[in-house]
Amino acid sequence: RRTSDTDYYEIVQSEAMATIIPGLRTPIWGYNGTFPGPTIVQNPGRTVVVSHRNGLPVPTVVHLHGGTTPHDSDGYPTDFILPDAKYGTFPEMPAMAGMPTGTDPDAGITRQTRDYIYPEQPHAGTLWYHDHRMDFTGASVYRGLAGFHITHDADERSLGLPSGARDVPLMIADRAFASDGSFLYPALDPAMHSVPGVEKSSMKGVMGDVILVNGAPWPVMKVDTARYRFRILNASNARTYQLALQDSSRRSVGFTQIGSDHGLLAAPLPQDTIQIAGAERYDVVIDFNRYKVGDQITMVNLLGSGSTAVVMRFVVARATSDSSRVPSKLSTIDAISPTPAMTRRTMKFHRGADSWTINGRVFDPTYSEADVPAGSTELWTIVSDFHHPFHIHNATMHVISRDGRAPGPYDHGWKDTVFVSQGERVQLAIRFSTFKGRYVFHCHNLEHEDMGMMANFRIT
Ligand code: C2O
Ligand code: CU
Ligand code: CU
Repeated sequence: RRTSDTDYYEIVQSEAMATIIPGLRTPIWGYNGTFPGPTIVQNPGRTVVVSHRNGLPVPTVVHLHGGTTPHDSDGYPTDFILPDAKYGTFPEMPAMAGMPTGTDPDAGITRQTRDYIYPEQPHAGTLWYHDHRMDFTGASVYRGLAGFHITHDADERSLGLPSGARDVPLMIADRAFASDGSFLYPALDPAMHSVPGVEKSSMKGVMGDVILVNGAPWPVMKVDTARYRFRILNASNARTYQLALQDSSRRSVGFTQIGSDHGLLAAPLPQDTIQIAGAERYDVVIDFNRYKVGDQITMVNLLGSGSTAVVMRFVVARATSDSSRVPSKLSTIDAISPTPAMTRRTMKFHRGADSWTINGRVFDPTYSEADVPAGSTELWTIVSDFHHPFHIHNATMHVISRDGRAPGPYDHGWKDTVFVSQGERVQLAIRFSTFKGRYVFHCHNLEHEDMGMMANFRIT
């Protein structure tokens, strides 16, 4: 049954062939056969229903990263869409008491399909969807199961920011390739630990030596002499980047940051570089008005070396007029100040011998680390003995402090993923949504997540 306030998308998850490295064919797992998958656009006042069909040989789970989502559409790691029966039976995973999983045809859940329902989102921002299958998220995302989900609102439309063909999502992801063009992912083949370009130990996270942007290696984008809005997402499994823009004389020209994970900042923020950990989004404007046709601007990665030190290039190809602007006020962001009444919790992220733990546990679907009241705001301190991008579902966060000091240059705005460096204590104010149920928080280094660094919380 279709309703008029809802937009419907249909996605088939399937094996496909892509040409990523010129002249070679790469087998991928794609949403509708492409990597990245199709971009889903959610307009003001609209509900989006995405009907997914699993045509892959393994169970899958779709998570809307950054979404404010009812629990049964959030992509809980054991809420599987099962593969065709010919691929065998997959064991039912344990459920948390009172939180059933399984098939429910009335709710659009059958063995091989599932309707994910996304109500209107509270922020106009850059969300993304990706696979979230327990223990296998890293491998599945690496093979291509990731796409953008962009949300708009009316206020944002009235600002005059670059739009249409000048509002461009950029999904950055590193991959390693075998000589036949296939993706190298260590867990799929232990022999690969000795392959150049693949980091030796997958324990710390898998990194490749080829930087892809929207599925293309080190692409060159032709631009007009105009402002462009780029929604930069780091969809890499484990790599953190420090992005900078350099003109042909290698001078750093900087970005204007206008948004974070969950939407626009209060005001534009000049940034010389952008540090972006796994799953973070930075919305930036680059003004190519200052250049002439033929000029080149390179996006580099100051944390990389050799092939990973370059991300992509812009070539100014056409002189045009440009009526876009970046107003000095972008949105209203209410500050959250800690109060004594707020519940405080500490989450210890720890590296064990062959696992990654939170408060001493590897992920246990039956255990809740925190029960939080719907709509409440809590103060969580993340303590870590390694560096991790901390991510939480169905909530939005402000960074309150780092090691007791003021937040850093990349902590502005509403976030769902916050980088925690080794030995650091990061205090976060977390505002939970009013959707009740079981959700997860985890490290967004996908290999850490798969090796246990994830926990449940319940909104009650
Ligand atoms: Cu982007 Cu729980 O994940
Ligand atoms: Cu998420
Ligand atoms: Cu981690």
